[in-house]
Amino acid sequence: MPIPVILDCDPGHDDAFTILLAAAHPAVELLAITTVAGNQTLEKTTLNARRVCSVAGISGVPIAAGRARPLHGPPRTAENIHGESGLDGPGFGSGEPAVPEDPRGALALVRDTLLAHPVPVTLVPTGPLTNIAVLLLAHPELTSRIDRIVLMGGSTDRGNTTPAAEFNILCDPEAADIVLRSGVPVTMFGLNATHQVRATPEVVDRIAALGTPLSGLCVDLLTYFASTYREVYGFDAPPLHDPLTVAHLIDPSLVSLVRAAVTVELTGTHTRGATVVDLHGVTGAPADVEVGMEVDTEGFWDLIVEAVRVLGGR
Ligand code: RIB
Ligand code: CA
Repeated sequence: MPIPVILDCDPGHDDAFTILLAAAHPAVELLAITTVAGNQTLEKTTLNARRVCSVAGISGVPIAAGRARPLHGPPRTAENIHGESGLDGPGFGSGEPAVPEDPRGALALVRDTLLAHPVPVTLVPTGPLTNIAVLLLAHPELTSRIDRIVLMGGSTDRGNTTPAAEFNILCDPEAADIVLRSGVPVTMFGLNATHQVRATPEVVDRIAALGTPLSGLCVDLLTYFASTYREVYGFDAPPLHDPLTVAHLIDPSLVSLVRAAVTVELTGTHTRGATVVDLHGVTGAPADVEVGMEVDTEGFWDLIVEAVRVLGGR
């Protein structure tokens, strides 16, 4: 049976590949997509999710917008990485994407989806956790219909937006704290894992060799993403963070996991938004989070290339 998934995202170049992978692979049933402000404003991340589904021919997956700002504090974007549109690189044109926005909004769409599905659903957030926190606060009765939360965020070591904090968690630390303390099983893929999956020129060449309009668009996305990661971080190739979540669902052997207590720093002057991962159990807190560690990068990229091939029609 395919794993039923709701993807909550902030496209975002790596979020875009997560949508492609979740839609393409038969081991996953992509039930719905919700968007959140993060890499760009909510308006832009929602338009981008619609754009990705439209160009990839992904139909029948409702897309609804969630929260435009975090639970506390002002919103931030990652325009320095994802560009003014949030998905810079390809030319998407100025027209409305074919895939519409579901007017229900994210909270109602997720509620309806969870109530309608016969078995518990896996939530896959790859942006700030605001929408997930709002769901857990507004509908505690739906917790039993959530199988697990498999998220991209945090890190077992350093951050990327401050020295201590990773972007998704830093955007809304209170939301991340609510999710981690919710009692819903959480699997966390942080920068320590996602920095292992870098879109090298060899990977880009594999995608380009597919020779379809979709593969060409993916090459444009990765080329832009590589330019900003080189400029901002000096990386030789950009880490494609978010799809590691869905890749884990497809093949749990791809990433080694450890169990650890994970807490979010909420008040540190220099460390707010840091994920404090107790890898050695020194705090005595329950080791209730699965944390991704070592990645089979070849297996990961095989899934990504195959998803682009399948959706591209070749
Ligand atoms: O820190 C990386 C994360 O922040 C990824 O999810 C990326 O898309 C941005 O949202
Ligand atoms: Ca993201």
